[in-house]
Amino acid sequence: MPISIKSAREIELMTEAGRILAIVHEEMKRALRPGMTTKDIDRLGEEVIRSHGCIPSFLNYNGYPASICVSVNDEVVHGIPTDKRVIREGDIVSLDAGVIYKGYHSDAARTHAVGQISSEVEKLIRVTEESFFEGMKYAKEGNYLYEISNAIGRYAEKHGYGVVRDLCGHGIGSHLHEAPEIPNYEMNRRGVRLRKGMTLAIEPMINMGTWQVDWLDDDWTVVTRDGSLSAHYENTVLITDNEPVLLTLSK
Ligand code: MF3
Ligand code: CO
Repeated sequence: MPISIKSAREIELMTEAGRILAIVHEEMKRALRPGMTTKDIDRLGEEVIRSHGCIPSFLNYNGYPASICVSVNDEVVHGIPTDKRVIREGDIVSLDAGVIYKGYHSDAARTHAVGQISSEVEKLIRVTEESFFEGMKYAKEGNYLYEISNAIGRYAEKHGYGVVRDLCGHGIGSHLHEAPEIPNYEMNRRGVRLRKGMTLAIEPMINMGTWQVDWLDDDWTVVTRDGSLSAHYENTVLITDNEPVLLTLSK
């Protein structure tokens, strides 16, 4: 599939989808506390999405049964919300959400600490975010896609973390997943040339231990193979001939 270049009108719609998703994340972050279940987060996220006239894009995507992915501790991504999983003080919780506004998607993820966590775990969350911004230094028309991948992967590995290889970022637009696939690890080739009007969901998933992951029997939940903690950070990004525009980051 070729990589779509968005028109001014499409960028307008994706900007609105991104603005709303930033609000959804703020509301979920504000509500997150010990004693809540992962399903409580899902219900809140879906309500905020719909109250802004959007559709939760994950719901029923390839059969995914919820609106938000809620992944706790050693869960990397795609944790399925349930009434049985109670969030506890000291957990780290990755929240991944996507919305559709007038046919256009945005996609973003954050990892939050619940209550007090060790400085080591704080560092995992911080370095995961920082790795995304290392990638952003190369997210510009004329550069090559894997310059972003290389910057993310190098930065995370420099801190001794495992960079998940089984899942990647992706193009985004009128579909949640479009070309190209965007690895978060170093590549031995340069990949496609970036052009203004491309919109990309860039999403490092970083483990405290090994990069290797497993899928649980629910066929969704991805966990670290060694049980180490994992963090996730994602924004929907518009490529321009200057600085990238982070559509899902509130100013
Ligand atoms: N942010 C994830 C992704 O980009 C979310 C998709 S999960 C699903 O792939 F629930 F929608 F399947
Ligand atoms: Co994504």
